[in-house]
Amino acid sequence: MTGPVGAGEADAPVDQDSRELVEGGADAEERAVESALRPRRLGEFVGQRVVRDQLSLVLEAARGRGHTPDHILLSGPPGLGKTTLAMIVAHELGAPLRVTSGPAIQHAGDLAAVLSSLEEGEVLFLDEIHRMARPAEEMLYVAMEDFRVDIVVGKGPGATAIPLDLPPFTIVGATTRAGMLPGPLRDRFGFTGHLDFYSAAELEQVLTRSSRLLGAPLTEAGGREIARRSRGTPRIANRLLRRVRDWAQVRGDGVLDEAAARAALAVYAVDELGLDRLDRSVLEALCHRFGGGPVGLSTLAVAVGEEAETVETVAEPFLLREGLIGRTPRGRVATPATWRHLGLAVPPVSSVAPVAAAQRALFDEAPQSPG
Ligand SMILES: Nc1ncnc2c1ncn2[C@@H]1O[C@H](COP(=O)(O)OP(=O)(O)OP(=O)(O)O)[C@@H](O)[C@H]1O
Ligand SMILES: [Mg+2]
Repeated sequence: MTGPVGAGEADAPVDQDSRELVEGGADAEERAVESALRPRRLGEFVGQRVVRDQLSLVLEAARGRGHTPDHILLSGPPGLGKTTLAMIVAHELGAPLRVTSGPAIQHAGDLAAVLSSLEEGEVLFLDEIHRMARPAEEMLYVAMEDFRVDIVVGKGPGATAIPLDLPPFTIVGATTRAGMLPGPLRDRFGFTGHLDFYSAAELEQVLTRSSRLLGAPLTEAGGREIARRSRGTPRIANRLLRRVRDWAQVRGDGVLDEAAARAALAVYAVDELGLDRLDRSVLEALCHRFGGGPVGLSTLAVAVGEEAETVETVAEPFLLREGLIGRTPRGRVATPATWRHLGLAVPPVSSVAPVAAAQRALFDEAPQSPG
């Protein structure tokens, strides 16, 4: 999938079976809606102060020297602004942007075709770069370092590689799995920015901006209410904002205030911390049926009527991050926060102590961060 931006602002397709209101990922339809809310300039991009500062230096310096900037790698969980930043880079440089993605590059030839048609100064956005085919990866190393691509002509022993010089360009790679990138590829990026979850205050700014663009009157308290249920993720914040706007339009007076936010999010069963029905049923099963655990993942999954994989990949990452569930070698355990979140009394210390120990084991284990 390649082509200039504007031709659908083609984000890479993400394989996603179930998309819930509070998940970080997005489907094609949502991505189309989102493009209207994307900040176009670095100055409009909320939060991520460190990455923003560093990036603005990289761009400013390149502009000053009249050169293309170093290749840029952006990593971080879904919905935090990687695609948005890639587009900002091109915009700030006044350079054309070409968009493609790892899954679209299954053969070295696919990449050769893209690279050999790049124009001087162009920005090539490679989304989901960790999903590119291996032979293409090798071609990319050379292109990034030497601005050269070897076009193979013919097959078998008679095949010859014709080197083709490329004009200077900048690759912006994005990945939710920086750890899955081979070292040599990672090393060829002169600048790596890691995006982190947003604070509630930053999400409020995102919401204020989005509501203005949508022409939806959001009150300060309404924004605060949506922000704290958005799991640190602008994409989720914008999504909840749209649901609250629906509610205000159909059942309210059109104003997105605190009451509208609460009522709308109750309809969608998104609770105070941004947990949805599945998240809550996992916590409830853990506490009510298994006395706080430890309980094996598959048993827990059966108890909530879900596939183990769904529980592990959809519900657990956020619950783990918030300390609402513990993962130990003997199974999942409730933490004091789990009990409290369900409005239950935390069991006496004697039964909580093993949990604390299990929690330590959890951090020693350093679980792989969710993608
Ligand atoms: N810092 C920000 N300020 C304002 N809006 C933001 C910011 N970051 C993200 N958004 C909004 O959140 C939405 C999702 O952002 P984006 O598509 O850039 O995420 P992503 O990191 O590329 O996600 P994925 O990994 O799924 O591709 C966009 O609509 C964008 O407008
Ligand atoms: Mg993206």
